[in-house]
Amino acid sequence: MIDTTRSSRISGFHKKSPAERLGIVSDFAGLDAAAAARLSDTGNLDLGLADRLVENVIGSMNIPLGIATNMRVDGEDVLIPMATEESSVVAAVCNAARQCYDAGGFTTSMSGTLMIAQIQAVDVADPHAARLRILGRREEIKVICDGCDPVLLSFGGGFRDVEVRVLDSQSGPMLVTHLIVDTRDAMGANAVNSMAEALAPHISAWTGGRVYLRILSNLADRRLARAHAVWPLDQIGGEAVRDGIVSAYHFAAADPYRAATHNKGIMNGVSAVVLATGNDTRAVEAGAHAFAARSGQYGSLTRFEVTADGQLSGSIELPMAVGLIGGATKAHPTAQACLKILGVTSAERLARIIAAVGLAQNFSALKALATTGIQKGHMALHAQNIAMMAGAVGDEIDRVAAVLVERGSVRQDIAQAVLQDLRGGAAGA
Ligand code: MEV
Repeated sequence: MIDTTRSSRISGFHKKSPAERLGIVSDFAGLDAAAAARLSDTGNLDLGLADRLVENVIGSMNIPLGIATNMRVDGEDVLIPMATEESSVVAAVCNAARQCYDAGGFTTSMSGTLMIAQIQAVDVADPHAARLRILGRREEIKVICDGCDPVLLSFGGGFRDVEVRVLDSQSGPMLVTHLIVDTRDAMGANAVNSMAEALAPHISAWTGGRVYLRILSNLADRRLARAHAVWPLDQIGGEAVRDGIVSAYHFAAADPYRAATHNKGIMNGVSAVVLATGNDTRAVEAGAHAFAARSGQYGSLTRFEVTADGQLSGSIELPMAVGLIGGATKAHPTAQACLKILGVTSAERLARIIAAVGLAQNFSALKALATTGIQKGHMALHAQNIAMMAGAVGDEIDRVAAVLVERGSVRQDIAQAVLQDLRGGAAGA
């Protein structure tokens, strides 16, 4: 039955305080006082700050923050804060890192900290000649772009290059100008978007065309983070495990259906660190998936091979547009604490660590999938969630979960029955 008495047209909602908005939403949705109180408890995020970060705030949603141990990246041990709601993700990184720790852990590198902004011009009569006109104005373009962000310049960043493509589109040729900008420790969206907007009228004048879009590209393929690790055979359980992992990689490389899941697992690790550090998870995810499809077929972000002496070698390469300054990274106190835990002082180091986490995550997923399957590992934590949903508290949670796992049946109805037995037994004792 559709409820026609409720209206989502709420005039001036954005002008109200978070508490007033929460009141309106509670009435609309019939929330009880406990649900409303939970929403308004913003935990480690100040309500006033939340209200400034996004619009129409009524509260906050807390996500568990776990620490992955055992990670050694470029010879330095690091603890990895990971914000995720998914069980087994943190454990997967710990396990993968433990199995390559003695062999040196992860070695990483980065292609640079260059971001790309695009300016779209249409209705250009002579797009190929116009392309050359733009390229010929490189120095002028540099001055315009660098003028937008003196602070970036003072940190050694700024305009680096201009490229122009003539794109064949459904509505005819489009002239697409790329500004290549070194954004250093900033993710850089604001910097490059400002430059693209400042340059747009000039592009229009030089080409005689009409400019529409002026925005960064999330396919940050001038900002590739790379990580590599070797897992010795005796650490991973022998040749059969190694070959299973390599075969799993070959499966992903050959099949987009598998590659999507394979890369989703990688992003379980990547996005958890990106989120923990207040960075833009969607930007990194969009870049990763677009990069995975760069050959025309969507494929794997990682590669697994066998070294000359028979060990398992894993590597990853993906765009990593993350920063240390600006946005939630700077404003959110938890993000600041996470950066301190990581001990990073540059966006590059952060990006490289995140790539290593993605590789670690993938190693563990492939190892589990190629051997026992993932359900066994998942079940222990899942069983605890089910036990809690059935009403278990305190040490009841572990006891109920253990019974569910032992029976191989992790269901809420069974959890309720087990809990009842447990409490009955306790009452009778
Ligand atoms: C689950 O969130 C992630 C996995 O499906 C990844 C994979 O299949 O490689 C386990």
